[in-house]
Amino acid sequence: MCGIIAAISRDDGLENAVISALERLEYRGYDSAGIAYLDRNQPVLCRIRATGRIENLKRKIAQRHIDGTIGIGHTRWATHGGVTEENAHPHACNGVAIVHNGIIENYQQLKERLKRNGYCFDSETDSEVIATLIAYNISDGLDFTGAFLKSIRELTGTYAIVAIHEKEPNTLLGAKNGSPMTVGLSPDGMNFYVASDAVALSSLAENIAYLEDGDCIIAENSDPAIAYKILDKSENEVVRQVVPNSISLKSVNKGGYETFMLKEIFEEAVVAAATYDGLDCNVDITKYGAISIIACGTSYYAGLLAKYFIEELAQIHVDVEVASEFRYRNPVLSPNSLYVFISQSGETIDTLCAMRLVKQRGYKTLALINVDGSSIAREADIVIKTASGIEIGVAATKTFIAQSLSMLMLCQKKEDIKMDQITSSINAVLNNCQQIANAAEKMKGSKGLVYIGRGISYPIALEGALKIKELAYISAEGYPAGEIKHGPIAIVDEDVYTISIAPYDKHFEKTISNTQEILARNGKILLITTKNSAGAVAGIVDHDNVDVLFLCDVEWPYQAFCMATAIHLLAYYTSKAKGHDVDKPRNLAKSVTVE
Ligand code: G6P
Repeated sequence: MCGIIAAISRDDGLENAVISALERLEYRGYDSAGIAYLDRNQPVLCRIRATGRIENLKRKIAQRHIDGTIGIGHTRWATHGGVTEENAHPHACNGVAIVHNGIIENYQQLKERLKRNGYCFDSETDSEVIATLIAYNISDGLDFTGAFLKSIRELTGTYAIVAIHEKEPNTLLGAKNGSPMTVGLSPDGMNFYVASDAVALSSLAENIAYLEDGDCIIAENSDPAIAYKILDKSENEVVRQVVPNSISLKSVNKGGYETFMLKEIFEEAVVAAATYDGLDCNVDITKYGAISIIACGTSYYAGLLAKYFIEELAQIHVDVEVASEFRYRNPVLSPNSLYVFISQSGETIDTLCAMRLVKQRGYKTLALINVDGSSIAREADIVIKTASGIEIGVAATKTFIAQSLSMLMLCQKKEDIKMDQITSSINAVLNNCQQIANAAEKMKGSKGLVYIGRGISYPIALEGALKIKELAYISAEGYPAGEIKHGPIAIVDEDVYTISIAPYDKHFEKTISNTQEILARNGKILLITTKNSAGAVAGIVDHDNVDVLFLCDVEWPYQAFCMATAIHLLAYYTSKAKGHDVDKPRNLAKSVTVE
């Protein structure tokens, strides 16, 4: 959450570098954005901030010529303080400017202390104390680097911070604890960058190094070249491995689609095929007595789907848990279990900390991630990388497909998986997107939505409800179909749509009975089923309140994939029909690095 970028630029590319990186980082938060830089000729601190998207910031920047050597930028996902320009980063105090990702937990104590020393604050943020604390430590006689290092030691919480100071215009400082940070030089060595992730540096640095918790970076624009060093938490100089930046710009564009999300949904069949081709899963899960899957958001639902796969196909007990609950409830762990952490970003703080807890207790961890070099990937015992390619749309879509298939490959032999059924059924849904768009048009005015399913359709129902909440801002619930009479049916009336997910499997008849119960109460239904149910649904499809979406007949459990594509498109088109920004839904961020 929150994207940060900093650059030392010996050519005249500072503005382009910072702005282009911010555009690529916008998926981490888009409540406001800002930059601060030191003018090349006269090193005074200049700051430009705007609420809303980077576009707003760019409009402000266009009014002046930025000719700087050193600068920092930020795109914000608000934690402390509303979406205002005062709360936008960079924050500044006496010529020191900082940007921050994370949460400073002791900011109130620090703020009170600084206020007692005569400092005033302009924002409600936790981050502003960092700039003020550095300024205070400078006023106490320390140079910029000394003041920065001392200030960092006083912070508790999570952070990735970069700082500049107008009195030391050749120095760029950074620190990381809990929030990701990466550094790199441009190929000609003329420019140096610090950023939240490799995506930000995709057109700027071919090789990058990931900092570790407790690391600080000290970079100097000195002659004849930019020099930088990394200090670890004991302030000893360390070398962090430099690796190729595997993110290419090519994968960070819309490829002719109207939005990233639509492009990513239309990639779902290709991603499934690439996942299958690329993954040779040599993890033998049969040697474990049980499997615990821990994740957040859509990754959690991929874990829940995997429970159905693994318990049916491998007959191994599976628990699935939300990471933020797991990590704080003193879980009882077992040496016979495999602990699986699913996270497309590899950075979700709760998932990362849950994994650390398991590792500290000495148990085996497997991470299923989509981003090389991410924190979870670097710390897990076993890593499986999904072949999704980078996902930019804030709501996860193609990564869900890749995660779910990777989990299936843990328990079904590669040669037994009928990939043609998975890819052709997804493609059939994509080809039928107009019918889904029509259904979305009908649903967009609903006051509430209920998604129901049994068996593997239940995690898909949960994923469908989450996706439509995120994108269309309609209150939606995912429920096991058998549970609706224990509560959710009370909200059913003519303004509530139920999305009944009922492929022609062993649960079909029962889910249809539950669907009839909703129809009997004037609810409207979108029935998502498979073509081989045609005879069996004859009694229901003629009802005025029922629309039906027929998917291909595929064997269990391959329907899960095309059902996922269908509910992803449904959320997409409902959001579009309501005129929302599908790639950047309000209040959300893609990479959740705060608790
Ligand atoms: C955020 C994103 C979701 C994602 C979840 C978990 O909420 O908006 O799309 O599913 O984080 O993220 P992870 O990177 O751990 O899979």
